[in-house]
Amino acid sequence: MRWRVVYDANDVPATLRALSSLLACGAEPHDVAWRDRSEGQGDLLGDDAASRAAGPPPESVPLRAWRSRLPAEAMELAHTVAQHAHPERFRRLHELALDVAAQPARWHDALDPRRLALERMAREVRREIHKMHAFVRFRQIEDGPGGDTRYVAWFEPVHHIVRAAAPFFARRFAAMRWAILTPRLCVQWDREGLAFSPGVDRSLAPPPDAGEALWLDYYRSIFNPSRLKTAAMLREMPRRYWRNLPETQAITELIQTAPQRSARMVAQASESQRRLPISVPRAVARAPRTPQEQLDDLGRRARHCSDCPVACSATQVVWGEGRVGARLMIVGEQPGDQEDLAGRPFVGPAGALLRQAIAELGWPVDALYLTNAVKHFHFLARGTRRLHKTPGQRAAEACEQWLEAEIRLVQPKAVLALGATAASSLLGAGVGVAQSLGRWQARADGLPVWVVHHPAAVLRRAESGAPSFQAWVEALRPAWPQAAQASAMAPSRVASADTIAASPSAVAATPYT
Ligand code: URA
Repeated sequence: MRWRVVYDANDVPATLRALSSLLACGAEPHDVAWRDRSEGQGDLLGDDAASRAAGPPPESVPLRAWRSRLPAEAMELAHTVAQHAHPERFRRLHELALDVAAQPARWHDALDPRRLALERMAREVRREIHKMHAFVRFRQIEDGPGGDTRYVAWFEPVHHIVRAAAPFFARRFAAMRWAILTPRLCVQWDREGLAFSPGVDRSLAPPPDAGEALWLDYYRSIFNPSRLKTAAMLREMPRRYWRNLPETQAITELIQTAPQRSARMVAQASESQRRLPISVPRAVARAPRTPQEQLDDLGRRARHCSDCPVACSATQVVWGEGRVGARLMIVGEQPGDQEDLAGRPFVGPAGALLRQAIAELGWPVDALYLTNAVKHFHFLARGTRRLHKTPGQRAAEACEQWLEAEIRLVQPKAVLALGATAASSLLGAGVGVAQSLGRWQARADGLPVWVVHHPAAVLRRAESGAPSFQAWVEALRPAWPQAAQASAMAPSRVASADTIAASPSAVAATPYT
């Protein structure tokens, strides 16, 4: 063993810097011993003399070695995997990094077993962040002589996710003073900033409060015994979270009594059906869902999507806005900071510019459907700021199912793509703005697409080279007449609304008029 790295599992950036230094030093994975600092010095002192003499690798080579040799997504993957609790995670990352640095094509080998194992770890980390967001239960405590209220929760994550999960709570509960205690790292919010401190023992977890009894009553009242699917429930709420969830006190009883309660509900329902006036046709009660209901339903399903790496760090999925049958669909890149918080598309500065353009063009707002190619906000955290980050190919691909389903349900007559992400999601990878300007392009399903610069590029035109606002408005103009005049929908696009199939993104450069 030539290298020994003593790492702090909660300090992912420092650990990745150490990994990058090892790459720069040419260290081999089998020459490195990774030791979690929290596991104590005794272990380390037992290492052999050669290892101690070698000392840790220099950390002065920040992330250069990694960045210069590996694709950006590899860094994203490493960042997530580093939060996993598996003791071999850094060795595996090191091995993958060496493989990919030597043979860059390996990165694209979707079946590479090393890559698959790391992807699985990353999914487990993301899933636990998601679970932490869902399962933290605050208890109210009076704090200090002034009786200031503080909310404290106890949570026991398996992975090192507290730092990654905390910003969500800061946004959600910005006006409260709260703390989340865990065995390895605690986090507090004082309405201004997050502060992290070492983990604590479970005995410090606050006792149940009065609000909890109310919550239990509420939970009992919304529990629907006829919808009980124990396996799905266990999948969504794995048993290891139960002991810190007040509602689980009620679950055993609710599960045991579900058959009787559901039989009672059936009896009551058939009784009330008998009481239906004769003139109410039975078919009405069983009417198929309308496309609008299906679209709303799809939006609700999308809220639980965690197919892309950022699903857990964004506040929420931002679904499209508009109605089924809207003639023109406008597709942006992804929600921005303000859209992420508001849960609505195009409400930030770029959205304001788009809305101003729509007003100047006199387009009927109720004939438009506004949405994005990517439904979650991708960002880089810089202190308290969240800086826009262009979504990667993987995120765009993960979201394609939702955009395609929106298109099938809304059935627009034309689509306006704002910027490159929208263009390539709609027309296929590699279709950019510059080559698409000023001509209609047909997708394989016959839907015409008009590509223009993204409004954010117009706002930053000094760097982006985008046109002025007035020139951009003129570039948008042809989209509406095409949408307004098109007659029937191409039959190939009238598909079963419930199917979410692969994207028909092949392009034919058909000139439309
Ligand atoms: N930019 C987009 O592409 N979409 C939004 O919703 C907001 C800004």
